[in-house]
Amino acid sequence: MKALVLGASGATGTLVVKQLLKRKTPTRILVRKTAVLPKEISEDPLVETVTGNINELDQAEMDQLVQNCNIIISCLGHNISFKGMFGQPRYLVLDAIRSVCERARKNTDKRVKIILMSTTGYTNALLREKNSIGERVVNVLLMLLLPPHRDNIKAANYLINEIGTQDENIEWVAVRPDTLVDDDLESSYEVFESPVRSPIFNAGKTSRINVSHFMAELATDNNLWEKWLFKTPVVYNK
Ligand SMILES: NC(=O)c1ccc[n+]([C@@H]2O[C@H](COP(=O)([O-])OP(=O)(O)OC[C@H]3O[C@@H](n4cnc5c(N)ncnc54)[C@H](OP(=O)(O)O)[C@@H]3O)[C@@H](O)[C@H]2O)c1
Repeated sequence: MKALVLGASGATGTLVVKQLLKRKTPTRILVRKTAVLPKEISEDPLVETVTGNINELDQAEMDQLVQNCNIIISCLGHNISFKGMFGQPRYLVLDAIRSVCERARKNTDKRVKIILMSTTGYTNALLREKNSIGERVVNVLLMLLLPPHRDNIKAANYLINEIGTQDENIEWVAVRPDTLVDDDLESSYEVFESPVRSPIFNAGKTSRINVSHFMAELATDNNLWEKWLFKTPVVYNK
């Protein structure tokens, strides 16, 4: 078993890598050359670091990146800056997910598990999740005005609608945290099939460390994986 973590230098990605290492999982990470990683990651022999920008890798580099990895976790997200939110690449997350899925499909002898860090702002229509009129208005505005939100929605839609549940090579789970907060320690958290509160008018909190714990458990615990396979679990701090 080998995991690949995209967005490994990010606030959640770093924690996901640490959680995988706690579980002794060999982990490949892709980070940009400006990334500063904690020593416990950069010096861990279980970690293989690949330097590059996911949007700039050519086909051969992409093939190499996913090679031998049976778990791929994306914690990619647009930087909170004007350039990160409104500049290129507009579809950082969608393009990365599409690209790793294309590779997984080429590698027909292996099944790959993909874990996408999504958001409670994603409404899973297959589960008949419904929004109030107010939520629908805000969602439309966010889709129009916030490219990173649009990217996150399209990436989850891609897994649900284009990969679906019948792909021979790809299994997936799209994890939906609510408002992300930074806590130093893991705490109790709950996981639901659908949001139990309005992500817009009554948002809850999800600490990144709890998200990372849940993702690492998904990656390493087959029973948990089977429970949430092809689903979009929502995670809240208790
Ligand atoms: N904020 C919330 O309340 C909330 C709630 C639910 C879900 N989410 C979603 O959760 C995800 C992760 O959130 P986070 O706060 O952990 O993210 P983050 O700390 O901003 O990390 C984002 C990661 O993506 C990488 N990245 C950004 N732009 C890139 C580019 N152009 N090319 C290659 N890599 C790039 C960053 O690399 P560098 O370190 O090199 O910049 C970093 O590793 C995001 O998609 C976010 O939208 C957020």
